[in-house]
Amino acid sequence: MAFEQKIKELLDKRGEARIGGGQKGIDKQHEQGKLTARERIALLLDEGSFEEFDMFVTHRCTNFDMQKKSYLGDGVVTGYGTINGRMVYVFAQDFTVLGGSLSETMALKICKVMDQAMKVGAPVIGLNDSGGARIQEGINALAGYAEIFERNILASGVVPQISAIFGPCAGGSVYSPALTDFIFMSKQNSYMFLTGPKVVKTVTGEDVTVDKLGGAMVHATKSGVAHFVGETEESTIQTIRELVGFIPSNNFEEAPMVATNDPIDRLEDHLNSIIPENPNEAYDVKDIIHAIVDDGQFLEVHENWAKNLVVGFAHMGGMSVGVVANQPKAMAGVLDCNSSRKGARFVRFCDAFNIPLVTLVDVPGFLPGTGQEYNGVINHGAKFLYAYGEATVPKVTVTLRKSYGGAHIVMSCKQLRSDINYAWPTAQIAVMGASGAIEVLQGRALKEITDPEEKAKFIAEKEKEYNDLFANPYNAAKYGYIDDVIEPRNTRFRVIRALQALQTKKDSLPMKKHCNLPL
Ligand code: HXC
Repeated sequence: MAFEQKIKELLDKRGEARIGGGQKGIDKQHEQGKLTARERIALLLDEGSFEEFDMFVTHRCTNFDMQKKSYLGDGVVTGYGTINGRMVYVFAQDFTVLGGSLSETMALKICKVMDQAMKVGAPVIGLNDSGGARIQEGINALAGYAEIFERNILASGVVPQISAIFGPCAGGSVYSPALTDFIFMSKQNSYMFLTGPKVVKTVTGEDVTVDKLGGAMVHATKSGVAHFVGETEESTIQTIRELVGFIPSNNFEEAPMVATNDPIDRLEDHLNSIIPENPNEAYDVKDIIHAIVDDGQFLEVHENWAKNLVVGFAHMGGMSVGVVANQPKAMAGVLDCNSSRKGARFVRFCDAFNIPLVTLVDVPGFLPGTGQEYNGVINHGAKFLYAYGEATVPKVTVTLRKSYGGAHIVMSCKQLRSDINYAWPTAQIAVMGASGAIEVLQGRALKEITDPEEKAKFIAEKEKEYNDLFANPYNAAKYGYIDDVIEPRNTRFRVIRALQALQTKKDSLPMKKHCNLPL
């Protein structure tokens, strides 16, 4: 074959691979408002940075005449590229090829990028759009999934793993995204479930739509499976790019420092009066977060789930930080099963990837009741406690207002190896709030007072006595549990100074095979 012909053959083959399952499939994808695998990769990576692997791989199945349905590249596009100049490995399932269903060779392609990402220490981003295991391949498809899952497990805590769902993700295939650090879903066309509506109907008799069973909003608000939800595929991909900017490429790296023009000593006068006079009145803790971080930029994780705890990424003085804050605006900021799970997972991610934690505390305690106890609030709360106590990254805590009981301990108290603990003058650090404490301590005396007016007077007196002792930060500061009481308007400066001081922090855990946190 002449040289020109060989080049033409290569270009023809590349062209064939680039249209995946064919133009008809691409058109169908577009009609449904979906992008193709290659369009998604183009949006995700810096322009012109994508280097593709395995364009010429085809499946090896001959069952059911499958050799007649063979496509170059099979149902996944794989390779590496950059996001704002930083290397990431990527795979994008191609629904136009047999519904993106996973074959043995597709699994090998995905495993190849995962293995290389591990060798060079770069994040792996998977864009999912697939009908699940390729039915014609039987056990080989299942084995392929298992190979991927094992790599997800080995890569966990070594390189960041991010999944996005842009179509179906059903059956056991949900477990690869579930093993990764973050799941993104777009509101259009994405769904995740273990068993589809038909099986649900057969087994439980329940009638449910695909969207109600596993749509993006279900997982963003009810199950907490989705960490981020985007209006469109484009905006979802932009948020993935944003997230990558906050995190290091692997567990041996520090998170990238960014240049900022935001002065570290910027005073925020309004913070001096942000805490309401009435201790039971709510305020929005996100106003405080936006005021203290660089340029007010905060990337919230799990924005729509367990809203009583706010978690997310920001920069402070150019450093990446993970912010964890009780939210008085939702359920008074109480801790419960879901917020504990949310907090624990976030703290562990930050700790695994060397991202310092900034904790803002205003917590009245754990939510009481059978609903919580029956759902295992003891175990879930213990996860959050464990995560903070285990974390060795720099930990800076600011108590804004209430910090009561077990929740005080969980929220990065000094004895959980938090490094620097500040409090605002409005802080109240105690075993419980005044009214609860008086009920317990004065129960017998209260029973003996029959006159309602006299009773109210007695309660008010006792509450005052209790509040004088505990409704302030100085009692805790007296014991050194609080390192300093700071002016709220100066919080940004004090936290950044603390983070700078802790940049060379080294702390360790006893040798062990692995921990046994209360899962
Ligand atoms: C082989 C598949 C396939 C699959 C879809 N296709 N899923 N081929 N194996 N799992 C093929 C279809 O035959 C069709 O081929 C093409 O992909 C497009 O599919 P459509 O059905 O036409 O598309 P749509 O109407 O958009 O429906 C999408 C869908 C549906 C909802 C995903 O295809 C579907 O229900 N698929 C099966 C889902 C499923 O049950 N998967 C197995 C889950 S169990 P042609 O040639 O007609 O274009 C599992 C176990 C994993 O995954 C365990 C891991 C531990």
